[in-house]
Amino acid sequence: MKVILIFLVILAHLSMAAARLLCPNMPHVSVLSVCSNACGTKFLYDHCIEAMRSSGIDPSPSHTEETTVYAILAANQAIDSYSDTLDALSFQLQHNKSLSGPESDAYDRCMDDYVASINSLYVIAGPALTNCIFEKLITLYMDAMTSLETCRDRAPWMKKPLLYPKVERDRNKIFMAYLLGQLLAGF
Ligand SMILES: *[C@@H]1O[C@H](CO)[C@@H](O)[C@H](O)[C@H]1NC(C)=O
Repeated sequence: MKVILIFLVILAHLSMAAARLLCPNMPHVSVLSVCSNACGTKFLYDHCIEAMRSSGIDPSPSHTEETTVYAILAANQAIDSYSDTLDALSFQLQHNKSLSGPESDAYDRCMDDYVASINSLYVIAGPALTNCIFEKLITLYMDAMTSLETCRDRAPWMKKPLLYPKVERDRNKIFMAYLLGQLLAGF
């Protein structure tokens, strides 16, 4: 019985280690340190700390994670945030009979922008970061941001309070994901 228990404890530690150790030679740092390296302003730094805390990361200076972990969490937060906007966009397109022609055209194109942006994010949070392939990372983040900004700038239609705050929020999330991800570009 004792032997089995010890074995289970070892297994639990191994699987935790597997989740934390993604890439060889990658620094392990605290939230405070990764956010101050990634962010040039106090405003962004505070957002970064809050984003990581809301992902369940212990913000105490003694707790460290591999730098890759922070980038994956931030990319996943952007993906989650996009899903909400995609739902709102498809609701408008499918159920709102009062949309004007130019409005529904803009929303329709925004769907395409979002799909393009989220596809880049899936590559980032999936194969690129989990397999430690960082060469194309900056290009992928840039593609994701450009697509989102294309949607945001479909003015005046996107300026409506209905969707604009969601698009702005998503733009902030992808930017935060980029700030954390660009720390990996040199590896
Ligand atoms: C439907 O679209 C109109 C025109 O943009 C907008 O004013 C209205 O709030 C929308 N309705 C819903 C339920 O979102």
